[in-house]
Amino acid sequence: KQSPIIAPSILAADFARLGEDTAAALAAGADWVHFDVMDNHYVPNLTMGPMALSALRKYGIAAPIDVHLMVKPVDRIVPDFAKAGATLVSFHPEASEHVDRTIGLIKDSGCQAGLVFNPATSLDCLDYVLDKLDLVLIMSVNPGFGGQKFIPMALEKLRRVRRMIDERGLPVRLEVDGGVTAENIGAIAAAGADTFVAGSAIFHAKDYRAEIAAMRAAIG
Ligand code: DX5
Ligand code: ZN
Repeated sequence: KQSPIIAPSILAADFARLGEDTAAALAAGADWVHFDVMDNHYVPNLTMGPMALSALRKYGIAAPIDVHLMVKPVDRIVPDFAKAGATLVSFHPEASEHVDRTIGLIKDSGCQAGLVFNPATSLDCLDYVLDKLDLVLIMSVNPGFGGQKFIPMALEKLRRVRRMIDERGLPVRLEVDGGVTAENIGAIAAAGADTFVAGSAIFHAKDYRAEIAAMRAAIG
């Protein structure tokens, strides 16, 4: 298991002050920026695209940007995010016609690649592509909105993926997304996650630094 990463989801930040709010979360101790892309097609909400990402880079955000694509189709938009400055690009297997090809496309465009599993999506395809991935993301809510409640079944799924990663001795990160708080993050870490997305828990807190510190303390 790798050292813990805390990735605030800027979906919960103030969109009118996106650069400042993102910089504040990083200055408060966050490691990555989690960038949620929703297309009102694969998921019933609409957020931001490559232009907003490149604006953050121009603003001076230098931390890794973890792009979570909730879009269908996937392939056409991948090079745009790479050019905009994405570090890692993750997508949902149901949204791509050819999962292995999309992973290759992300890597060829110079980014790290991740695969995302919804609460009711089986892990079957992981058997065939795990060694090509940099990250596996387990959704602990149904994608589309911030501020939802953590679905406990995600813990069992995290344990299964942790076992697969460890059995094969791969340097793959295991990320969790949805309803993560300082209260449940200890149990989530114990289930095997090493990379933690948190939107409302961080951006709706009065003190980002205290919230992130409480999360780190609970991870142990
Ligand atoms: C949900 C998004 C999440 C969301 C998490 O579709 O992928 O990244 O922003 O928000 P919280 O932490 O509020 O559940
Ligand atoms: Zn996300």
